[in-house]
Amino acid sequence: MPNPLNFRPMPETTPGAAASTPAPQLTVVPRERLAAARVLVVGDVMLDRYWFGDVNRISPEAPVPVVLVQRQEDRLGGAANVARNAVALGAQAGLLCVVGHDEPGERIVQLLNESGVKPYLERDPALLTTIKLRVLSRQQQLLRVDFENSPAHEVLLAGLARFDELLPSHDVILMSDYAKGGLTHVTQMISKANAAGKPVLVDPKGDDWERYRGATLITPNRAELREVVGQWKSEEDLLARVTKLRTDLEFKALLLTRSEEGMTLFSDDGVLHASAVAREVYDVSGAGDTVIATLAAMLGAGLTLVEAVGLANRAAGIVVGKLGTATVDYDELFH
Ligand SMILES: Nc1ncnc2c1ncn2[C@@H]1O[C@H](COP(=O)(O)OP(=O)(O)OP(=O)(O)O)[C@@H](O)[C@H]1O
Ligand SMILES: [Mg+2]
Repeated sequence: MPNPLNFRPMPETTPGAAASTPAPQLTVVPRERLAAARVLVVGDVMLDRYWFGDVNRISPEAPVPVVLVQRQEDRLGGAANVARNAVALGAQAGLLCVVGHDEPGERIVQLLNESGVKPYLERDPALLTTIKLRVLSRQQQLLRVDFENSPAHEVLLAGLARFDELLPSHDVILMSDYAKGGLTHVTQMISKANAAGKPVLVDPKGDDWERYRGATLITPNRAELREVVGQWKSEEDLLARVTKLRTDLEFKALLLTRSEEGMTLFSDDGVLHASAVAREVYDVSGAGDTVIATLAAMLGAGLTLVEAVGLANRAAGIVVGKLGTATVDYDELFH
């Protein structure tokens, strides 16, 4: 099929701004093929908690508002949100991660059991399960409170052993790094996956990408890439920097997600840009999770990387148009 994915050669100028977005022709994947795709997500899980309430007075103790909490909402975050996205598309997803023996940890277990994700959880009694608590009143965030610490050494080693057991029964490995320590052994995991001939997708964090050496595909956003290769001055300069990075760290491909500018794929086959296809943008948080989950599900279903990127771009365009739900399901993607 000629240019089936709305890809066009990378423009000289910044993509997005002046680019028109004709309706892309996308590969339709039969449900059965997606149902057979087995994705293993490894990484940092977290709980996103929201407290909603009214503010009617200022505290007598300090010049701060007093929130009377009326409602609590919990959502799976981080690697668990990625796994949930793969399941929403109709793929199978396992999730290997560490949680603590605390209330947020139990809540994550409960939400995972409801989600269709197969949990492979290592328990660390000393771990504070990562939770991000937002306090909101009248649609406004007043405060965010985070709890987190790093998993214990022995627990991470147990996770590495579990990875060995899970590798043969999965088609695609997805590393969802939120820099909470769950991916301490990511380099070894990538080597093992490579040796087993399984593609490894990485959503990176931080400036040390040596640890992702040998990944099949890495999916930074603009800020994440900038942190590692520096600020590029043109698309040509970007290509040069990414090519050097890919060579140095042996990444088969790099997909740069560029928010309103869409996404650009760099591989040995060249550079392909897909313009953003969002009609309306309500909530961009979590779009990166949807992108990498869609890529993994589609590669697991046997699509080519170029086909998978086309669908990931469409999925991102749908998810940013949603308030709340951070997933896209099969019917939405292929309708
Ligand atoms: N403002 C926007 N308008 C249109 N599309 C968008 C917008 N923001 C994000 N997208 C779509 O979502 C994709 C991923 O977004 P982005 O590059 O912001 O990833 P991210 O920073 O990793 O997201 P997050 O970490 O919040 O999940 C983009 O490549 C694009 O397709
Ligand atoms: Mg991201």
